[in-house]
Amino acid sequence: MQTQEITDSDYQRFKRFLEDACGILLGDGKQYLIVSRLTRLMRDENIGSLSELIKSLERASPHHLRDAVIDAMTTNETSWFRDIQPFETLGQVIFPELDASRSSSLRVWSAACSSGQEPYTISMMLSEYCRKFPGNRIANSQIIATDISSSMLVQAKKAEYEDVALGRGLSDQRRQQFFVKQDSIWRVNDDVRKRVSFRPQNLLQSFGTLGKFDIIFCRNVLIYFSADLKKDILQRMAQSLNKGGYLFLGASETISGYTDAFELVRTPFSTVYRRKD
Ligand SMILES: C[S@@+](CC[C@H](N)C(=O)[O-])C[C@H]1O[C@@H](n2cnc3c(N)ncnc32)[C@H](O)[C@@H]1O
Repeated sequence: MQTQEITDSDYQRFKRFLEDACGILLGDGKQYLIVSRLTRLMRDENIGSLSELIKSLERASPHHLRDAVIDAMTTNETSWFRDIQPFETLGQVIFPELDASRSSSLRVWSAACSSGQEPYTISMMLSEYCRKFPGNRIANSQIIATDISSSMLVQAKKAEYEDVALGRGLSDQRRQQFFVKQDSIWRVNDDVRKRVSFRPQNLLQSFGTLGKFDIIFCRNVLIYFSADLKKDILQRMAQSLNKGGYLFLGASETISGYTDAFELVRTPFSTVYRRKD
């Protein structure tokens, strides 16, 4: 498929499909993204044009096509300890505060976990906190990690990474401490893995089955959505947090203009949002 073969009307129909399915807003002139991300899939599925693809998606036949298209169109860029400062806030400000104020272990949600680096990083921070404060009450905390992409969830659950993926954001000390090396593959150790469970969740759909959380990480995913969708998701995230719970967004993301359910908290390391009571 070539960009010039995509008609305006097919582009508009595909844009609508993508936004309804997963919230991702394709701007104008992004035909090249469709070509670069879908050409291989269309070849494998024997689909000759975008208009044929849209018809198959509308007919929901073959059934797996919708998930495969969403998988191909999502951006899964991530890394260990991404932007580092929010994780300093987590380990040095929020864990101590919640450890002192909550009567039991914590529930943490990594809401767009990609290939697992974010939830495993949270778990590593918890291991480090627990080693430093052996009398803590949050060692048995749970991290629920979700994503819309089934292929990312498969990778994340596997918890195995190659040298290149491991090089991004991990110090040598943490690499030695939290991974077990098997041939050329590094596997996240049991202590870090056991707290993390993965499940599918489309952020457009109800969070009802997930329960309540003390901390939510929703980083580097809202940037792809419309203002109305950001408002809706942030409002529902506020409802999914326990009183005084915290929300982390990505470095370029803000709640400003979308919800007043949170107050901004500045720590020596970063900003974070706390649910207002
Ligand atoms: C750029 S990655 C961010 C990963 C991680 N949070 C980080 O900051 O490094 C964005 C993730 O959002 C997921 N995503 C996109 N749309 C989604 C939706 N509607 N519901 C849930 N996850 C979605 C993608 O599959 C992708 O894994």
